[in-house]
Amino acid sequence: MRKYKVGILGATGTVGQKFVSLLKDHPWFEIKVLAASKRSKDKKYREILEQKTVDNINQFDKHILDMKILDVINDAQKIANSVDFVFCAVNMSKKDTKELEELYAKLECPVISNNSANRQVPDVPMIIPEINPEHTEIIPVQQKRLNTKRGFIAVKSNCSIQCYVPALHVLKNYGLKSVLVCTYQAISGAGRDFKTWPDMIDNIIPYINGEEEKSEQEPLKIWGKICDNKIINADLPNITSQCLRVPVTDGHTAAVFVTLEQKIHINQIINLWNNYVPEIQKLNLPSSPEKFLTYYHEEDMPQIKSAREIYNGMGITIGRLRSDSQYDMKFVSMSHNTVRGAAGGAILLAELLCAKNYIS
Ligand SMILES: NC(=O)c1ccc[n+]([C@@H]2O[C@H](COP(=O)([O-])OP(=O)(O)OC[C@H]3O[C@@H](n4cnc5c(N)ncnc54)[C@H](OP(=O)(O)O)[C@@H]3O)[C@@H](O)[C@H]2O)c1
Repeated sequence: MRKYKVGILGATGTVGQKFVSLLKDHPWFEIKVLAASKRSKDKKYREILEQKTVDNINQFDKHILDMKILDVINDAQKIANSVDFVFCAVNMSKKDTKELEELYAKLECPVISNNSANRQVPDVPMIIPEINPEHTEIIPVQQKRLNTKRGFIAVKSNCSIQCYVPALHVLKNYGLKSVLVCTYQAISGAGRDFKTWPDMIDNIIPYINGEEEKSEQEPLKIWGKICDNKIINADLPNITSQCLRVPVTDGHTAAVFVTLEQKIHINQIINLWNNYVPEIQKLNLPSSPEKFLTYYHEEDMPQIKSAREIYNGMGITIGRLRSDSQYDMKFVSMSHNTVRGAAGGAILLAELLCAKNYIS
């Protein structure tokens, strides 16, 4: 099978590096272009990683380390001509990112994005493939607006919501009414590690810019419906959140409280989680986890260190489900933020788009 040629915009960043490592030996995709800011242009990938003192550089293939970086803006036409689609993980202002992604779409190069800039545009699908794969159907509407034949933008959601929305999704048939969630987010979510952010050692920062708004709003688009050529957000549940940065390298945890419209027994919920088979499972996508949701009965699970790599970092783990005195129930859930929450989630989305022939 001919592989799809792929470009990575923002290849030198935390998420970009994760894309490169997850795409190694990918059965459908091969990296043809690595691109970043003009600061990195014409430098070899190896040189940039060495400058950034990235550990474990030799995990990357030699031909990747020898690739010269292109400039995401000034080389856009050249990049669009040489790939079938791009993954986008640049760290630019919202306005510049939005323009950049539209530029590639208009150059007839589909964009699968990690960025938030286009997430609330009503004809841009924001997809967690196991939850709302049908939102791909909005793509022709977007192509009409952009006046493109091949080009479009599809986005994945914010990393924080991917650690608790999957668990809530399975309860949707019982009427999700109100949700309170506190997230405990890893430092790689800010593109940092302990070398570049020593202040995070032995520390918690009770603020992540823009994260609470995203945590409360994005699930409503994920659960929205396509109507009158746009995605209309769901009305419920009402979600309130607090998002904290904690001294963890990778893995976002959520403490979740939820009230449902209908009553359901706790044991029934655990069965629903453990037996949930998403519709996309039958497509056999290469990055699809064997099991989407895993419930732990041990009281002290899921823990970051032992559970974040489950199913290559693509699984969601849940534990501590019990009744609550103010909400119906509470639980804890967790996922790997740079895999499921970023590069891995975007690769799975690209696989879905290829399987459904949106990317030819
Ligand atoms: N980290 C996560 O877990 C996570 C999860 C979900 C979504 N995201 C989102 O993904 C995006 C990237 O995050 P990150 O953590 O990987 O950031 P990062 O480590 O700071 O990497 C940023 C990338 O963007 C490039 N860049 C920066 N300024 C640019 C400019 N003016 N023009 C062109 N390229 C520029 C950088 O290139 P140079 O090396 O040349 O500067 C680098 O390749 C962000 O929007 C972030 O919110 C991150």
